[in-house]
Amino acid sequence: MMAPWNAPVFITRVWCIFEIFTAHTTDACKVDIVMPPKEKRSLELEVINDDGGINALYKTLAKTKVENANASVESDRLAILDWVESDVGCSTLNHQVNDLLRQWMLAVLTELVETRENTNDEDYADFCNQVGVILKTNGEYGAAMKLHQTARTICETVLGKDHKETATTYSNIGSVLFELGDYEGALSKYEEALAIRFSAFGKNHPSVATSYGNIGCALLGIGDYDGALSKHKECFAIQLSALGRNHPDVADTYGSIGSVLESMGDNKGALSKYEEALSIYLSVLGEDHPGVADIYCSIGSVLESMGDCDGAFAKHKEALAIRLSSLGKNHPDVAETYGYIGSVLEKMGDYEGALAKHKKALVISLSALGKNHPFVADTYLSIGSVLESMGDCDGAFAKYEKCLAIELSALGKNHPDVAETYRYIGSVLEKMGDYEDAMAKHKEALAIRMSALGKDHSDVAKTYNSIGVAQKKMSTPKDTATQPNRKLRTRLGSRRRSIKAVGEGCIGNTSTICT
Ligand SMILES: *[C@@H]1O[C@H](CO)[C@@H](O)[C@H](O)[C@H]1NC(C)=O
Ligand SMILES: *[C@@H]1O[C@H](CO)[C@@H](O)[C@H](O)[C@H]1NC(C)=O
Repeated sequence: MMAPWNAPVFITRVWCIFEIFTAHTTDACKVDIVMPPKEKRSLELEVINDDGGINALYKTLAKTKVENANASVESDRLAILDWVESDVGCSTLNHQVNDLLRQWMLAVLTELVETRENTNDEDYADFCNQVGVILKTNGEYGAAMKLHQTARTICETVLGKDHKETATTYSNIGSVLFELGDYEGALSKYEEALAIRFSAFGKNHPSVATSYGNIGCALLGIGDYDGALSKHKECFAIQLSALGRNHPDVADTYGSIGSVLESMGDNKGALSKYEEALSIYLSVLGEDHPGVADIYCSIGSVLESMGDCDGAFAKHKEALAIRLSSLGKNHPDVAETYGYIGSVLEKMGDYEGALAKHKKALVISLSALGKNHPFVADTYLSIGSVLESMGDCDGAFAKYEKCLAIELSALGKNHPDVAETYRYIGSVLEKMGDYEDAMAKHKEALAIRMSALGKDHSDVAKTYNSIGVAQKKMSTPKDTATQPNRKLRTRLGSRRRSIKAVGEGCIGNTSTICT
């Protein structure tokens, strides 16, 4: 019984949680969740209320905490907790129950969309948009895209191509393309949205800022770091004066600027932006929100670059806990965190552990993102790197080639990530004694880096260094090549979740539920 829909009484009771978990994890049982019509209506209204629905959903789904739940009889509570702790553990149980609720909630929303299907009006388009955003943030990209396209068709027909609502649908389609790794496609949609917003709202409106921010994210994906930085700065200036500093959109922008600085090799600058973002998120969104997890993830990444593996590991653990409870175990953001943890473990010398994490990341990302996504490429690179550390050069080489093939088709041959992959291939070829091919790869890397990053970037220096080392080896082919310093590169999430605060109103009468 899902009531009230945003704070179900069921998940405050030990017996209920235990029963749902047991039924859910036993093949013989089918769990039916029901929601009173009044609750359904209230959920629907919440979803229409701009982005409120997403936040309310996150909050609801992070609420299962068997360790805090109660029972009428204290000895029952203790006995159940005893069993849980000796069996799956509290957090796994909580996540399983949350997963079940999430799947069900997404199904309810999809059903709500279907029941309104024959009303081809503006309201329906708006509803499609909102549900599409919720599906996207939950990693359901195909379904999200379908709804956004429906909304776009309606808006174009009913409101015209220059209307601000139509711009929103372009922007949303762009966001799904972004998640799918199609950064060029995303960029062109974001630009269409910007043009409309610019003439509809003027140049200082927050939604124009959002468009600049989106464009900045797409440019980062494409590998144009300077372009990305300047867009994020334009975005920031507008947001700061229109929204004030303590706004989640401003925090998003701090995070985005941090990501660009990190990509440019400025770790200290990145860290300070991430910390600004974190303090806003914590005060505005609370500590269980996925936005907070995103920032922990970014901080972990930059700490790893700065050589603080323990610090990085701790941050990724925090991110993982939030992502598992708010997004579920099959979400690409969870894969991203496994990737980071794997990369830290590799640095700490735990190769088996690292390999296991990267394989987990691969399974999730293949099914959530498809086999041609840049993150999948990156995961192959990570696996290759661990294999290389373990001394399996042939295995590593095969993975690097897989990574390169995906990157060439998804990102194009002039992307900085492609250069990085050439560097890996070059250094493993050196280890295998093939110095000429190694040199050729290093030179390809250098050419890309010089044109993408400029001659003063630290990565260009590194590439010169690799070439120097390779040249030396050709004359004295005895030393073993040094492996490039591994670091996950392709940031997954768009890091842009536009958010509105949600009222905690309880609707419905739940005092008679038997627990
Ligand atoms: C369980 O009961 C305690 C004490 O009455 C209360 O503080 C706590 O909030 C309850 N837990 C839940 C999940 O409702
Ligand atoms: C909820 O139901 C109980 C029992 O039927 C009733 O006594 C109470 O007044 C109801 N509360 C509300 C807010 O409707």
